[in-house]
This record gives sequence, structure tokens and C-alpha cells, in this order.
Amino acid sequence: MNILHISAECYPIAKVGGLADVVGALPKYQRELNVTSNVVMPFYNNKFTQNNSFDIVHEDQLILGYDTLSFKILKLTNSNLEFDLYCVDIPELIYKEYVYSADDTERFLAFQIATLDWISSWQENPDIIHIHDHHTGLIPFMMTQSYKYKSLRFIPTILTIHNAQYQGWFSHRKVYLIPEFNFKDVGLLDWNSIINPLAAAIKCAWAVTTVSPSYMNELKLSANGLENLLNQESDKCIGILNGIDWNVWNTETDDYLIKNYTKSTVVSGKKANKEWLCNEFKLDIDKPLFAFIGRLVGEKGSDLFPEIFKKALAENDISILLLGSGNKETEKQLTALLDTENYNAYIGYDEKLSHIIYAGADFILMPSRVEPCGLNQMYSLRYGTMPIVNAIGGLKDTIIDLEQEDGFGIRHYGVTITNVTTAISRANSFYQNKKEFVKNSKKIMAIDHSWNNSAQEYINLYKSLKK
Ligand code: ADP
Ligand code: GLC
Repeated sequence: MNILHISAECYPIAKVGGLADVVGALPKYQRELNVTSNVVMPFYNNKFTQNNSFDIVHEDQLILGYDTLSFKILKLTNSNLEFDLYCVDIPELIYKEYVYSADDTERFLAFQIATLDWISSWQENPDIIHIHDHHTGLIPFMMTQSYKYKSLRFIPTILTIHNAQYQGWFSHRKVYLIPEFNFKDVGLLDWNSIINPLAAAIKCAWAVTTVSPSYMNELKLSANGLENLLNQESDKCIGILNGIDWNVWNTETDDYLIKNYTKSTVVSGKKANKEWLCNEFKLDIDKPLFAFIGRLVGEKGSDLFPEIFKKALAENDISILLLGSGNKETEKQLTALLDTENYNAYIGYDEKLSHIIYAGADFILMPSRVEPCGLNQMYSLRYGTMPIVNAIGGLKDTIIDLEQEDGFGIRHYGVTITNVTTAISRANSFYQNKKEFVKNSKKIMAIDHSWNNSAQEYINLYKSLKK
């Protein structure tokens, strides 16, 4: 079976969030199950692409509305990725350093058209086309409706929704950019009088998955306007929990860490990483360290952070460290807070620092209002760091509260300042019993969230579509 993943992000080539981690890991695990699984993504002009070499495997021109654009398909040559990685280079659209920008409608549409042009030239079709999020959402529509790609209509398509908040909306005025189709089918592109690529994908893909079972249930109640559509299409919808890349996220081999460790050396290993963090960020090594890593957006509850942090620090003898960027107003408030004792923040993106924080912190905070899956909590578990989560989406599916049978984390129900600070106080009390705390760290390090199970679930889904 030959599977092609089509995505805007893929780790380590270009990463904004968890989408990259998933697309960079799932194909490896699928390959271990004896299928061929590869990735195609846009060619961004970033550090990774500058420092790696590519072969040109295909060259052509694509039509985007009234424009003809040259494109190349570049295959990554000198990497140790365990799958083939293809990048679509469309120089006229200037694939800037940024993954996302203001002209995303044109950029991602051109990317999708180039990808389909390229696949149309293959001797043998892929068996499965697996698209991710709205950036690639017009592919199933084009494969079934655009005259040009009709020969591809028998290839099963799967849409994975990583985040339904973003849907890629654009005005009907731009519909001429999509390769010609019978205009009576324009309704397939539309949702609430606007072109909606995510909705089009839900309608046209053969199957739709979300990145956790709970998120699928939640979307049927509230999906930023798409809830009715998901209920209508319910028969082809299923939630499959993400896994994590067991090799990238491995405390024994992680090159980013100050000190590597195993379950049996967790105390000294975590201590060395915490010492480095406390030195670097002028925090007290003796206080429990609570950390947040992520995008500063409403979904993550970050607008409440300034108030949560002030209250938690006033009520507990703890330290708080934040790594993140996003909403400018939140960034400003979190920067203004830097005078506060026992608090520090790095506003920006830093992959290495994130690994050291997963290893060196005692607790990871995830007060998300929406969390389709969430990878941070799984990285924390693997690094022996206790997650504190709002029980929604993938957080609900992966974290059991200490007070429940077999529990190992802290859950709160709803994102309010009081709920989060109460959870922090509970965590602080638990930390005081060092023996129990260390026992719990060892326990969570043993929980298996590798992709093994879920990679198989996807293969089962593909097989059910190929019948
Ligand atoms: P989302 O995709 O919604 O942002 P996930 O939990 O699925 O959330 O994945 C977030 C990924 O991005 C994790 O690998 C996390 O470590 C990483 N990440 C987020 N923000 C930063 C940052 N500022 N610096 C380094 N890594 C970050
Ligand atoms: C999205 C979601 C996040 C999920 C990630 C990977 O960015 O917000 O919850 O873990 O995709 O699927």
C-alpha cells in the first residue's frame, strides 16, 4: 500500500505546532507496518531547506486562475528521515520563511494544484491520499469535481482534522482560482455563504478523522460552525488518538537535554535539567517548577495566564516558567510580569529549550479551552513531568486524575482562574510528598503513547476504504 500524506507542516522541516510532529512521525510508524508512506509539503525558504539538499524529480507549470506558474517537486536527499519527503517549490509565490502568511489562500491552493498535477503524472496512482487540516482541504473536491483531475477520483482520500478552529475560509470572488468544475457543484465548497476548504474536505473526503475520540464528540456539539456538517457526515467520521515519536522524544538519547536519564535515574536526570533552567531563568531550584510551552492563543487559555500566574504565585511557594508566542497583547502582559519574583518567560519559539523544559520542569500546565489532541502532555509523561490539564479533547483521553483509579495527573474541569490555581495548589501539595512524587514520575514515564497503536488504526481505516 502506497500512502501519500499532504500537509503544510512536517517536523523537522517546518513546524509551527503539533501538526508538524504528527506528519513527521506517523509515516515512519506506518512504514514499520510494511506500507509505503511518504509526505509532500510546500517548499519554504527556511534554515532546514537551506541546510539540506534536494533533487528535482518533476518540473511543470500550473494554472492558478489567470496565472501560469512554474513549479518543481523537490525530493529531500541527504536526510536521515525514515520516509520520502517531497517539497513543492513555486518560486513565483515566494515561499518565504514563514509557514503561514496573509496570502495563504493562493499559496496553499497553488500547492494543492501542483501536488495533484504531479500525482496525475505518476505511472501508478497512490493507494491513499491522506490530507491534513484546511490547507490541503480542497484536494478531495478537486479530485472528484475538477475536470482536470477526474482520473484521480477513485483514490480514497482521508482528511485528518487537527484543529477545526481554522477552516481556511475565502470569498466566492476567488472561486475562479480553483481548476474548472461544473458550477452546479459549487455548493460542495460552500458553508454559510463562504468558500470553506475544511467543510469541502469533510464533504468530499472518503473518511474524516480527528486527532482524539473526545474531540470528535466535542466537534459534533461545537465546531466553529461545522457541527451540523459533522453530524450529517457522522458515518464516515472517527477519532484516532495521536501518538508521539518515541525516538525523537526519548530521555535516554535526546541530544537537546543537559543530562539524559532513564526511569531509574529520573531524579538526578531531571535535577540536572532543572538546575540548568533555574540558572538560565534565575529561578529557585528548591521550589516546584510549573511550566507552560505553547502557542499563546485563546484555545490554550493563555489570555488568563497573567492573572493565573499572579494568583498561583501569591498562594504557593512555587516557580513558573513560560515558553511561547502568539497573541501580542498576551505577550505584552506576560513580559510586563517579568518583575514578579519566581516567574520567568521566553517569548518566542525554541525547540531545544522546549525539550529541556519537558525534562526539567516538575509540572506542565495545559489549561486549554480546546485541545484536539495535545502532544505536550504526552511529551511530559514520557519525560516524567506531571501534566495539569483541563479535561477536554485529547487531554481527557490521555490524562487520568490522581484521585481516580490508576491516576497519575491533575485534571480540572473548565478554564477559570480559580480552577487552574486550585489545580496548581493541588499539584504543589502532591509535590511535598517526595517519595510519592518520584514514584509517580517513574510511573508516567512507562505509559506508552508511541504511535504503534494508532498507526495501525489508520492502516485499518485505509484498508476498509480500499475494499
Ligand atoms: P498545537 O499544535 O495546538 O500548538 P500540540 O500540543 O499538539 O499543540 O503541539 C505543540 C507542539 O509545538 C509541541 O511539540 C510543543 O513542544 C511545540 N511548541 C509550541 N510552542 C513552542 C515554542 N514556543 N517553542 C518550542 N516548541 C513549541
Ligand atoms: C493541532 C491541535 C493539537 C494537536 C495537533 C496535532 O494543532 O491544536 O491539539 O495535538 O494539532 O494533531
